[in-house]
Amino acid sequence: MRIVITGASSGLGEALALHYATKENQLILIARREDRLNDVASRCRNKGAEVETIIADVNDFERMREIAEHLGEQPIDRIILNAGVSVGHGGGITPFEDFERLFKTNFLSVHALLEPIIPKLMEQKSGEIVFISSLASLFTMPTSIAYSSSKRALNAYAEGLHHQLCPHGITVMTIMPGFIESEMTQKNQFEMPFFMSTEEGIKRITEAIERKKIRYAFPFRFYLMIRIVLLFPQSLRDKIVHFTNFKKGA
Ligand SMILES: NC(=O)c1ccc[n+]([C@@H]2O[C@H](COP(=O)([O-])OP(=O)(O)OC[C@H]3O[C@@H](n4cnc5c(N)ncnc54)[C@H](OP(=O)(O)O)[C@@H]3O)[C@@H](O)[C@H]2O)c1
Repeated sequence: MRIVITGASSGLGEALALHYATKENQLILIARREDRLNDVASRCRNKGAEVETIIADVNDFERMREIAEHLGEQPIDRIILNAGVSVGHGGGITPFEDFERLFKTNFLSVHALLEPIIPKLMEQKSGEIVFISSLASLFTMPTSIAYSSSKRALNAYAEGLHHQLCPHGITVMTIMPGFIESEMTQKNQFEMPFFMSTEEGIKRITEAIERKKIRYAFPFRFYLMIRIVLLFPQSLRDKIVHFTNFKKGA
């Protein structure tokens, strides 16, 4: 398979690259940190995969379009849109710059890369597009307004794309993980419910991809809790958010 992974230099992207690193697969890995990406690539090559690295900032939309043209020269079997950033806040107002950065990285960059690729996938009448969203897209805490908003926008985009591309034989999947061990979660100063190892997280994600799950949220107990809270009246939800924020120290 020819598999493209964005944000492959650390965390989930790195682990996904290593998971798919077999003799049968050709990997194209994208990220900004050259040394980290080269290290991931060489470990993937040691496992038998053919690997191409592309050092790029996904916020450089012109470059994303160029990369897309290059990628589209050969059939793409799977593209995993994983590059992402988070930013946490205390009680303050989210600075506009954080919104701009998170929406560009977590959301707009995705379409900059996909716009030229989608017609190629339609021509080939096959292919998988996998979005790494988050459980945070389903419920917005006052401390992660920009992150949750960007991931919820991604869900809306993915939902529309699924309906648009399904008749063309293209599978669009949205994965919504809870807290998984990575550089991103290392920064969190609060207790993360249902925290799981990178290995466990990648096992769940790759199984969902193999089963072509259109929407997959996990861990199930955390997802269920969110769904139940969303059914509560607003006054009760307010109390839960207040209590959870208090525990976070925000
Ligand atoms: N870990 C979790 O608990 C969790 C939960 C839900 C969803 N997610 C999502 O999973 C994805 C991966 O996150 P992670 O937890 O693995 O965090 P991570 O270890 O910080 O990895 C983020 C990856 O994205 C890349 N990236 C960030 N900004 C980029 C940019 N402007 N251009 C190119 N690449 C960029 C980084 O590479 P460079 O810095 O080298 O560019 C890195 O490879 C994110 O979309 C995140 O929102 C994570």
